[in-house]
Amino acid sequence: MEDGSTLAPFSYGGKRKGRGLRSRARGGSRVLRTMLVCVCALCVVGGFILAAQFSSMAGIYRQDGEVQVVGSKWPAMQTSEGAIAETTTVGDEVKTNRRRLVSRIGFGSCTSRVAIAQPIWSNGIIPSDIDAWIWAGDIAYTDWPDVNCAKNPAHVHCNCTRDWLRSNPDSCLAGDVAHARLKFEEQLSNVEYIKFVNFMCSTSKENSWRSLDLSSCDRPILGTWDDHDYNWQDGDKRMPTKEEQKQLFLDAIGVPAHSPRRNKGRGLYWRHTLNEGVSGREIDVLLLDERFDRDTKPCHTRRDFCKFTNPRKTKYMWCKDFLEGGADGTGSCCKKDDLYWHGWCKLPQNRANPAWDQFCNPKSSSYGFADGNSKIFDKNSTDEALSWSVTDQVDDANDSSVLCEILGPQQRKWLKHELESSKAALKLVVSGSPLISNPTEVVCSQARKKHPAAYCKCYDDFDCFQPAQRNLLHMFTTAPGCVVVLTGDFHFSDIKVLQPGNHSYSNDYDSTDLPRPLVQVMASGLTNNTAVPAPCEGFRIDTVGLRPNGACDFVSGPAFGVIEVDWLTSPPIARLQIRGGGGQLLLEQKLPLDTCIPAA
Ligand SMILES: *[C@@H]1O[C@H](CO)[C@@H](O)[C@H](O)[C@H]1NC(C)=O
Ligand SMILES: *[C@@H]1O[C@H](CO)[C@@H](O)[C@H](O)[C@H]1NC(C)=O
Ligand SMILES: *[C@@H]1O[C@H](CO)[C@@H](O)[C@H](O)[C@H]1NC(C)=O
Ligand SMILES: *[C@@H]1O[C@H](CO)[C@@H](O)[C@H](O)[C@H]1NC(C)=O
Ligand SMILES: *[C@@H]1O[C@H](CO)[C@@H](O)[C@H](O)[C@H]1NC(C)=O
Repeated sequence: MEDGSTLAPFSYGGKRKGRGLRSRARGGSRVLRTMLVCVCALCVVGGFILAAQFSSMAGIYRQDGEVQVVGSKWPAMQTSEGAIAETTTVGDEVKTNRRRLVSRIGFGSCTSRVAIAQPIWSNGIIPSDIDAWIWAGDIAYTDWPDVNCAKNPAHVHCNCTRDWLRSNPDSCLAGDVAHARLKFEEQLSNVEYIKFVNFMCSTSKENSWRSLDLSSCDRPILGTWDDHDYNWQDGDKRMPTKEEQKQLFLDAIGVPAHSPRRNKGRGLYWRHTLNEGVSGREIDVLLLDERFDRDTKPCHTRRDFCKFTNPRKTKYMWCKDFLEGGADGTGSCCKKDDLYWHGWCKLPQNRANPAWDQFCNPKSSSYGFADGNSKIFDKNSTDEALSWSVTDQVDDANDSSVLCEILGPQQRKWLKHELESSKAALKLVVSGSPLISNPTEVVCSQARKKHPAAYCKCYDDFDCFQPAQRNLLHMFTTAPGCVVVLTGDFHFSDIKVLQPGNHSYSNDYDSTDLPRPLVQVMASGLTNNTAVPAPCEGFRIDTVGLRPNGACDFVSGPAFGVIEVDWLTSPPIARLQIRGGGGQLLLEQKLPLDTCIPAA
């Protein structure tokens, strides 16, 4: 995200106190209660041996095509210990494997820009006894110099020729693969993190897990990346070394060498099904890649700001690229949303066009799958309204998409298919960038005293990519089962609930008609360095009512998220939580898995 350095252009008014560290003491007794419930739940499980559930499939295949379980029947049974016993028959031989039943999933993001202690693994995450862990981005700050560039401008890591990739002093190392390797190494050598991986993976001995598939540990480790893992703060699809960087990241989270996630030309998005084959208890984890195919920021989101800003000031040098970069020198910003969403789609006469849904309606299942180069937009068309030529007007001549993309057409298609075909009662969609951020405008800069104020309504998240965002909001609230969004990036943690109906954010998210609410859990900042105590103001204050417990109900100290599913209640209930550095419960939202409507 635009943390620290790039958030600097914003100035915030008002001073309100955040919930932050103070509320933890109160949270302490709540966590104790939760633990007791868990223990009891386990006792209840102990009383039953749940009926074996037979899969009719001839074999269960992993996404990478590897056969996981072979046999004509695949019985998966929950044992008295809360484990899953799998029996497979190969010839005359019957084999039984035991797997943990996954009920408590931890997730988090944002370690630290420089190497510091990470006590949260030992003090908070391991004691929470999680059955799986999901990285939601920024496992390492690979683009970040280890020196303070403001104090050491002559340092070799701070003094580089400025261009669109290295636009400010702290980004001289963007795209530097050798430096990225060192930064990942630093994180993987962190003693607390090693303890954590050894806890998750009983098969790992000492540091030997480097070559393991961590998604097949007893307690799987999964993940996706965000801008700092991607090696470019707020980076987009133009990243020159993204393929190399992807390999480094997948190495770091223990993805095997033969995984299709490593294939060239695609982002690292992926589905991983937890409790696979256990009827009623599957959890689909949909790991998004919101960097690899991300367009540049839509032009309208920063045009005013950049016009008022002095691009010679190193802090705002990215504006030069934004306004004057790109192949034709008319700016590297994404023009598609200006052209269609804010342009063609707003003209009343175009409503009747047969292509309107494909181009203009993010709630349509055909939205975004139109080919912008198709004959509908042929320049020779006699219809004035159809005379747009995409190839003439977007920044990337090869781009046939009709919206400013954050996932890209290929990944959107995949996601739609996964959501529609998923049988899982709970789907966790993991995105490095928040899907729901903060639609409040903030004054962009104090530096332009002579100019009228320019406002910014989005940061580096989906709020900037409005049609793409609305498309996902619609998909997530119409998919079978319940979808919960897990995210990170902002260096604080909170829970937001987007409600259908009439609210002060309804226009911003076009959410009035959503068929059901959508919950987003943001867990960001695992260390002192990234989760510094921060006041409830600026982009941290929620003035529109997305936080169920008030404008300042967020956590600013080191924290992680937990999704805990109680399978034995009727209906099963997911508890969506933020826990602090000592594992104490700080925020919680219950979600019954029959209605997907958040409960008090
Ligand atoms: C984090 O910061 C607090 C307060 O400054 C300090 O007491 C604590 O030791 C720090 N922890 C680490 C691991 O640096
Ligand atoms: C950066 O390096 C150049 C030479 O490569 C030098 O001329 C310049 O003074 C350096 N800038 C700073 C701030 O040290
Ligand atoms: C459009 O019209 C021009 C001139 O009338 C013609 O040269 C061109 O081939 C036409 N393009 C297409 C795609 O039909
Ligand atoms: C478009 O794609 C072609 C072929 O892949 C390539 O040669 C060309 O450089 C691309 N143009 C731009 C502007 O990226
Ligand atoms: C929505 O609520 C606002 C006030 O909160 C009200 O002015 C407006 O008329 C309402 N709109 C609808 C469609 O109910």
